[in-house]
Amino acid sequence: MVTEVMNGLSERQKREQEYYNQYAQSFDAKREIDMSPIHGPMKKIERRPWNSYWATYELAIDSFQPGQKLLDFGSGPGENALRFSEIGYDVEGFDISQANVEVANELFEANNRKDKGNFQVSPAEVLPYEDNTFEMIVGVDILHHVDIPKAVVECHRVLKEGGQAIFREPLEVPFLDWIRNTKLVKLFAPTEASFELHITEDERKLNSIDVEILRNTFPKMEMRRFLFLSRFDKFFRDGEDPKPSFLEKIDHLLMTYIPGVKYLGGVVIFILKK
Ligand SMILES: C[S@@+](CC[C@H](N)C(=O)[O-])C[C@H]1O[C@@H](n2cnc3c(N)ncnc32)[C@H](O)[C@@H]1O
Repeated sequence: MVTEVMNGLSERQKREQEYYNQYAQSFDAKREIDMSPIHGPMKKIERRPWNSYWATYELAIDSFQPGQKLLDFGSGPGENALRFSEIGYDVEGFDISQANVEVANELFEANNRKDKGNFQVSPAEVLPYEDNTFEMIVGVDILHHVDIPKAVVECHRVLKEGGQAIFREPLEVPFLDWIRNTKLVKLFAPTEASFELHITEDERKLNSIDVEILRNTFPKMEMRRFLFLSRFDKFFRDGEDPKPSFLEKIDHLLMTYIPGVKYLGGVVIFILKK
């Protein structure tokens, strides 16, 4: 069945697969994964509710109960999956890129977690799991690479009744994106597909139609917004800098206390309940 599905990939799926098979070469399965976003909140040392990645992990931490199965939706090279297994989840993951799946499986092996994580090649649009399999599904930066209507139906199908799905995704903010796409701004911050910038030809931010598709499938939907002024971080902050971003903190304050500012947020966490 999986072979059949993989033989019938669309042109878009094939381009994504090819891109990520090459991009995956930059990952070493023996690399050390930063567990501070998990250990911080779990051990009550540090929380970063203003950072969309930390906030995503914290939602998974808050919902965890022993014995639960988590699906890493579009698991890439497995870094997030390893973090979810650190929380205690039994993790399954899938990705359209064979190379990414190999790196993820090797990463779990290198961390002596082979029995805690299993990864397979699959498109998000046709998943190789039974109905009602997972208590928790988490997807990081994935929906904007896939056919959303099909992937969301699959997500709903494999999620257990009473389960939760969490997605962290970029979202269109039409006026700000218009400015972003002017020639002048693109001169300083290009948007063309490249390995250096980690941008594929086919990825696109979610728009209001996508949000409605998610809401129609999961009527109990909640959205948390991030990234307003912190869009400027890319100009003077190293993306790998482990220290908190000052602008992310300001965004969090503005979005919490000033009505309307949250609609300028270019990243969203969707919390979907079945
Ligand atoms: C930006 S990466 C995110 C990976 C991972 N979630 C992470 O945060 O590291 C996007 C991922 O989507 C995968 N992908 C693209 N199109 C896909 C599809 N149709 N089905 C499944 N995975 C897909 C790519 O192979 C890539 O691993």
